[in-house]
Amino acid sequence: MDLVEVRFPLQDKFVLVQPGTTLLAAAELAGVELLTGCRRGQCGTDAIRVVADRADALEAPADGEAGTLSRMGVDGDCRLACSARVRCGRVEVLGDPLI
Ligand code: FES
Repeated sequence: MDLVEVRFPLQDKFVLVQPGTTLLAAAELAGVELLTGCRRGQCGTDAIRVVADRADALEAPADGEAGTLSRMGVDGDCRLACSARVRCGRVEVLGDPLI
């Protein structure tokens, strides 16, 4: 199984993780601190902007994450770090979409 590269360019860090790993877990592994709250896809505290090298690099948002992102009114490049799971390729985490 190929590992997925998760990059944090603002912190100049990256990690290689198993598919299915959340972006929050990848951040913790990389030593990157992200603000979190519920860790269940409901509060939106950990919304982040992401760029992937391929359309299927992340699993599609589950209903809970999709609902929270919709309520927040953020665009399609945004995910919740606690809920977004990597699938393949390379993902860059660009930071808070609301700043
Ligand atoms: S920590 Fe609450 S939505 Fe991720």
